[in-house]
Amino acid sequence: MIYLNGRFMPLEEATIPVLDRGFIFGDGIYEVIPVYSRRPFRLAEHLRRLQNSLDGIQLKNPHSDAEWGQLLQQLIDRNEGEDQYLYLHITRGVAKRDHAFPKNVTPTVFMMSSPLTPPAAELKASGVTAITAQDNRWLRCDIKAISLLPNVLLRQQAVAAGTMEAVLVRDGFMTEGSASNIFVVQNGTVLAPPKNNLMLPGITYDLILELAAADHIPLKVGPVPEAALRSANEIWLTSSTREVLPITVLDGQPVGNGQPGPLFKRMDALYQSYKATVMRKAD
Ligand code: PDD
Repeated sequence: MIYLNGRFMPLEEATIPVLDRGFIFGDGIYEVIPVYSRRPFRLAEHLRRLQNSLDGIQLKNPHSDAEWGQLLQQLIDRNEGEDQYLYLHITRGVAKRDHAFPKNVTPTVFMMSSPLTPPAAELKASGVTAITAQDNRWLRCDIKAISLLPNVLLRQQAVAAGTMEAVLVRDGFMTEGSASNIFVVQNGTVLAPPKNNLMLPGITYDLILELAAADHIPLKVGPVPEAALRSANEIWLTSSTREVLPITVLDGQPVGNGQPGPLFKRMDALYQSYKATVMRKAD
């Protein structure tokens, strides 16, 4: 069951007019929210980022946080599976094709749920592979925009190279992945790029910073030079659907000794125990 403009319905019945500005211009924003044990994870943070994305494209939020909470819970209730991920998508609505904003148009609101399978133990044990690529996206990467063509092309570049992710570099500094945030470990310190217009402020990114601080893991938030990426002892990838994963091969070269590192293992344990605690509280 999906949600479209005020109604729940089977996916097959959902249609949108071809003049929807999401379809015509990619004029909209989205969120991806993980659900564990049928409860949204870090919902307040996701709704805050949703508001920031809406502000970034000057679109009024069609719902209050309380309304979103209720709608998302209904979506969870109408779908199977303890763990799900919710996709929430808002476009500027349907209007005659003209780049400038239309007046008095109702936004299109679409939500769907998919099964969420946390990364397999084997993947965490082996690590994943990645390539580097030039970050050729726009300068508002902090907006979770549905116009994802650059990210799509970069991710495809990674897949065509037989890898999982493209780690992006802009002007000599690492920004993020095509669909993830990236952390680098150098000499026992976790390096994280600063949250600015060049990357999406990941909800998982924030959690990793919180967990690192709470566990006294040395941490430096600041521009991460490409050279640091290339000489890293460890590289991690994070996202709501992939949690935290070690990148063990970059551009065909082993990262560190080519195995998931000790700080990755420590962070993954912290992440899993945080998740378990939050879920127990929800019960
Ligand atoms: N993407 N950076 C980009 C470009 C992303 O697309 C994502 C996540 C992240 C990580 O953000 P978070 O930790 O809040 O999931 C960073 C989602 C999962 C997607 O597009 O499917």
